[in-house]
Amino acid sequence: MLCLGSVGLVLLMLTLQRGHLAPYSERNYYTRYHNMTEISEWMEQMETENPDVVSSLVYGQTYEKRNISLLKIGLSSTNRKKAIWMDCCIHAREWITPAFCQYFVEEILKVYKTNAKINEMMKNLDFYVTPVLNVDGYIYSWLNESTRMWRKNRSPGTGNCTCYGTDLNRNFNSNWGTVGVSTDCCKEIYCGTKALSETEAQAVTYKLEKMSGDILAFFTIHSYSQLILLPYAHANISAPNHERLMEVGLGAAKAIKDVHGMNYTVDPASGTSQDYARQIGIPLSFTFELRDKGDHAFLLPEDQIQPTCEEAYAGVQHIISDAHDKAFYSSAATITATLWTTLLAAWVTTATVGRMGRTTVVMITTATVG
Ligand SMILES: *[C@@H]1O[C@H](CO)[C@@H](O)[C@H](O)[C@H]1NC(C)=O
Ligand SMILES: *[C@@H]1O[C@H](CO)[C@@H](O)[C@H](O)[C@H]1NC(C)=O
Ligand SMILES: *[C@@H]1O[C@H](CO)[C@@H](O)[C@H](O)[C@H]1NC(C)=O
Ligand SMILES: *[C@@H]1O[C@H](CO)[C@@H](O)[C@H](O)[C@H]1NC(C)=O
Ligand SMILES: *[C@@H]1O[C@H](CO)[C@@H](O)[C@H](O)[C@H]1NC(C)=O
Ligand SMILES: *[C@@H]1O[C@H](CO)[C@@H](O)[C@H](O)[C@H]1NC(C)=O
Ligand SMILES: [Zn+2]
Repeated sequence: MLCLGSVGLVLLMLTLQRGHLAPYSERNYYTRYHNMTEISEWMEQMETENPDVVSSLVYGQTYEKRNISLLKIGLSSTNRKKAIWMDCCIHAREWITPAFCQYFVEEILKVYKTNAKINEMMKNLDFYVTPVLNVDGYIYSWLNESTRMWRKNRSPGTGNCTCYGTDLNRNFNSNWGTVGVSTDCCKEIYCGTKALSETEAQAVTYKLEKMSGDILAFFTIHSYSQLILLPYAHANISAPNHERLMEVGLGAAKAIKDVHGMNYTVDPASGTSQDYARQIGIPLSFTFELRDKGDHAFLLPEDQIQPTCEEAYAGVQHIISDAHDKAFYSSAATITATLWTTLLAAWVTTATVGRMGRTTVVMITTATVG
């Protein structure tokens, strides 16, 4: 009794000393969904508790003037580092996706000191992780049961249209308004009044434009369907890169299956069009559609958060390792990367008109749900 009492007292003192327990140190933090307030607090804690490896960056604002922030994770290095981009929750109701971004961050921070591979990658790469891109929409989806299925952002319709929201994943400057979109502002796939009409899409675009030369792999995380979507590249430059995308995507699907036996389909056609893929300047670019296949759909039960994150982590790490090793070990990789850049530059030069010259990375999926 006395012994237990002392332990309790010590714990209480530790708790008091720190003010309050960090939210993520709660039991089962990563097996529950968290609202935006909690996620913002978690981001601050990550930064505070890991000052050597984590910093945060505000890179845009939402329609309702909230900050869009990412966590940058990596060990400092005197060499120029490469980057990995990951954004979650561009679609509000896909609650498993911010949960995954949080899990991803937690996992690499947990293992990088002891796992030699992750440690090496932390020295060579910076991970740019946006847990919630569509902040307004995510907050709205938490309001009550009738808003839970909200997908878009929260900008009001223009003209006669009284509905709210633009599908941010249809608002990028890449064959805007042509593939799997609607111009009816009441529709889930409303693409906005023009390309980049939405501040959220602008934020990602401008940030990526500044960094695109350094990004080895780009992930945008969605749900549901259990798919790994990859872009077709332009006819004249796609072949070598397309094969690599397919190969790496299949490797990721296998890595996912090895964890809990789940089937993820790699789909080169669905969700992409040749046109928009032409504009992609980052060698490895994937859309992940996480669990499930429709049984619970966007209302994935909390008891599936952990297994979903574990398997998706394995899939993402497969791609990141591949990207890292090719960039830092293989001399053939240098040649391929150079060739890719040259071909892309050639295409951009010959095919661009005005602002279109900017290399923009966009994910437009024709699927209307995920
Ligand atoms: C977010 O969740 C926490 C913990 O459940 C709760 O205390 C808080 O009121 C919630 N905040 C909002 C804005 O819903
Ligand atoms: C938004 O970001 C700006 C710039 O980093 C910061 O000064 C401001 O406090 C942030 N606002 C909120 C509500 O966090
Ligand atoms: C849910 O919240 C929305 C937005 O505030 C509101 O319009 C609606 O009436 C609420 N519905 C219920 C059932 O509380
Ligand atoms: C807006 O409403 C007016 C009057 O009902 C109609 O004439 C006009 O065509 C509508 N505009 C659009 C863009 O639907
Ligand atoms: C591919 O390149 C060839 C030769 O340069 C050119 O004639 C053709 O138009 C290009 N195809 C596309 C789709 O741009
Ligand atoms: C995955 O697909 C294989 C082959 O189609 C099938 O036998 C297996 O049952 C599937 N696994 C799951 C978990 O759905
Ligand atoms: Zn989605």
